[in-house]
Amino acid sequence: MTIKTIILAAGQGTRMRSSLPKVLHEIADKPLLQHVYETSAGLAENSIFIVYGHGGETVREKLNHLHAVWIEQKQQLGTGHAVQQAIHHVEDDDTVLILYGDVPLLKADTLNALLKNVSETSLALLTVELDDPTGYGRIVRDHNHAVCKIVEQKDANATELQIREGNTGILACNGRRLKDWLSGLGNKNAQNEYYLTDIIEMAVADGLLVKTTMATDPDEVLGVNNRNQLAHLERAYQQRQAEKLMTHGVTLRDPARLDVRGEFAELGQDIDLDINVIFEGINRIGSHVRIGANCIIKNATIADHVVILANSIIEDSQIGAHTRIGPFARLRPQTELAEHVHIGNFVEIKKASVAAGSKINHLSYVGDSEVGRNVNIGAGTITCNYDGVNKFKTVIGDGAFIGSDSQLVAPVTIGKNATIGAGSTITRDAPENQLTLSRVKQVSIATWQRPKKQEK
Ligand code: UD1
Ligand code: CA
Repeated sequence: MTIKTIILAAGQGTRMRSSLPKVLHEIADKPLLQHVYETSAGLAENSIFIVYGHGGETVREKLNHLHAVWIEQKQQLGTGHAVQQAIHHVEDDDTVLILYGDVPLLKADTLNALLKNVSETSLALLTVELDDPTGYGRIVRDHNHAVCKIVEQKDANATELQIREGNTGILACNGRRLKDWLSGLGNKNAQNEYYLTDIIEMAVADGLLVKTTMATDPDEVLGVNNRNQLAHLERAYQQRQAEKLMTHGVTLRDPARLDVRGEFAELGQDIDLDINVIFEGINRIGSHVRIGANCIIKNATIADHVVILANSIIEDSQIGAHTRIGPFARLRPQTELAEHVHIGNFVEIKKASVAAGSKINHLSYVGDSEVGRNVNIGAGTITCNYDGVNKFKTVIGDGAFIGSDSQLVAPVTIGKNATIGAGSTITRDAPENQLTLSRVKQVSIATWQRPKKQEK
């Protein structure tokens, strides 16, 4: 069975009150349309067509990397008209699946169940039972409970408005049949639109059976029309992520206070996440990792038994096993920490490697550096890597001890087991095994007296 998926994404989305086209608004840092695309891309033997319109060029530019055929609908004359724009891509024996670009949480399982109901003699329709079906087309059934048509809210009579089974808009049917029905669509209705939903009545007239699948979770078929719904679906999405993590063996102190905006390329077990942790991009996390409250972790690789204490921010970094970071640490891109490293509070590291067992525990900046094993960097140490124009490298040998409040002016090398006296400004290489310091000699003035308050 060849599937042609047509994603309708030409609607304006005026209720978003936004300069951004609706389908580019994001859930978990990913455009709504891309969520729909990725779900349908997971189906077997499927090619994808996206009908775009309002603000379309922006949509196309932003999502041009998707493997889809883009079809412009110049005027938005209704969902039926939108499908008509793509219909010349459909072969008679294709199965056509219609999706909406603003319904992001649809599951692949649901689509596969739906597709099982399609044949030459049956049309598959996804419906949903709603407490408040306002705005939805209503599924009208006969006394045998067979679907006979869909009536839009604005065209419905009082009895039809009582129906709580709503049309999700998602359906699948045979290509040849669809072509037939589309050519017969009119727009004599309350909105003067070409309704795709009118094909249901035509299918029934042609003797087809309309087989419905009911979405069990209403959020799965909820569309985004305003920012309230966007926020609601963001939470629903995040709840799914939290459930997945817990099923996998991750402890969440509060599943409602976790955000996953991206993916885990690897995920160990017995990971313990405190509240308000945000994951972005692609992360790899080992087992027995503990992450404290309010951490942001982006594109990181974190080995087993790492502890990240509260309020730390980590981006594009690699962290070796048993390393401890934070609280209040910031690891910027290209940080590579080996095993058993300690990075403490108010320490910023950028484009630097720190070998096993080294400690940078307080208030330091280490950038463009190579730090050896078992190095101790005292509080307030700064690698001065930038002269205002160029960046230079600092190399610190194994076993070195950098006294507090030192500035290492790069390019500079500190030898193995060297000691730098506290408060030094080091501008030339420091030899191995020696004490190097640059400090004004300390003096005491015995005759000195404190100033006295002057009488006025
Ligand atoms: C549609 C259905 C309704 C269903 C509801 C579910 C019709 C006539 N009605 O109504 O039965 O209950 O969805 O949300 O189909 N679009 C285009 N081009 C157009 C018009 C719409 O691409 O000319 C796209 C929109 O971007 C959107 C989707 O089609 O993704 C649905 O359009 P929308 O205007 O939201 O339809 P509703 O009136 O809500
Ligand atoms: Ca809608």
